[in-house]
Amino acid sequence: MGSKSEGTVGLSDRPTLLSIKQAQERLHGIIHPTPLVKSRSLDELAQRDLRFKPENLQVTGSFKIRGAFNKLSEVAQLGAHGVVTASSGNHGQAVAWAARYFGLPAHIVVPSTAPPIKVASAQAFGATVEACGTRSRERVDRARAIAQERGYIYIPPYDDPAIMSGQGTIGLEILDEWPEVDTVVVPIGGGGLISGIATAIKEVRPDVRVIGVEPQGANKAWQSRRKGQRLELDHTDSIADGLITLSLGEKTFPVIESYVDDVVTVTDRQIRDTFWLLFTRLKLVVEPSGCAAAAFILQRLLPQGERIAAVLSGGNLDPAAISTLLPHE
Ligand SMILES: Cc1ncc(COP(=O)(O)O)c(C=O)c1O
Repeated sequence: MGSKSEGTVGLSDRPTLLSIKQAQERLHGIIHPTPLVKSRSLDELAQRDLRFKPENLQVTGSFKIRGAFNKLSEVAQLGAHGVVTASSGNHGQAVAWAARYFGLPAHIVVPSTAPPIKVASAQAFGATVEACGTRSRERVDRARAIAQERGYIYIPPYDDPAIMSGQGTIGLEILDEWPEVDTVVVPIGGGGLISGIATAIKEVRPDVRVIGVEPQGANKAWQSRRKGQRLELDHTDSIADGLITLSLGEKTFPVIESYVDDVVTVTDRQIRDTFWLLFTRLKLVVEPSGCAAAAFILQRLLPQGERIAAVLSGGNLDPAAISTLLPHE
């Protein structure tokens, strides 16, 4: 594990309440303002008033469309020739969808291990998908090289204020629909989702707690917070393929430091058990990364507060992977 030296991260690198509200206007009529859902039996299990934000039902099957669409609307205005990204899947699909909307060619570099459903869906949106290695650094280098060669704009998956601002619209929707909420629980990969949500929540309602959840085998935020500096893990291991980033972003880390109240971890076993609970009680198909926040609550690892909202961040599951998530007797 190593610590990361920081470039200069300025105020304009952060999302703000204004930039999140602007994103909300851009996304209006494009995405679904997903309604909070609840289940009495899950409330009884956790002995709390729980609501779930089902971004698995979002356009492209995850929250990623919020940030990608917001970023591409900026890029399209600047007259880009095309866009390129490196993504484990959901961000790639979202960029492909938004690029098609703005009439831009999209090139998506994915790991050679990417779930086939995610690759097929980006292709169905008209993107060129290229498989490249298993390490995220290799893919980012390849994507940046394509950006150079073709004059495309590189679209980062999380470390960008427009991406964070798009994801932050979830925070505004939760506060709007459920002003009584005490605590909002959010999964952490590179930290774009939680940075946006925490900014929206703390700038409107500083009394509402924001908790980040990551897999025990990919606890870069947990470790970084304890050390007080952004750390890079040597390696990560979890079934939650959207959360196995080696480090937080240079831009997401300071936002998380200032606005996230606590970071906790869950095991893959807890994620699997939660997949089954969400499937049987809420009838929702949520991919492992999307189960992490709910896993923290439903495995009785309860945060403070009576009224708790958990973000179910995506539902893009390879049908073949479903059997690995079912309970084994
Ligand atoms: C379903 C899902 N949830 C959560 C995340 C984490 O988002 P972020 O990298 O913005 O923290 C991802 C990232 O790919 C994801 O696909």
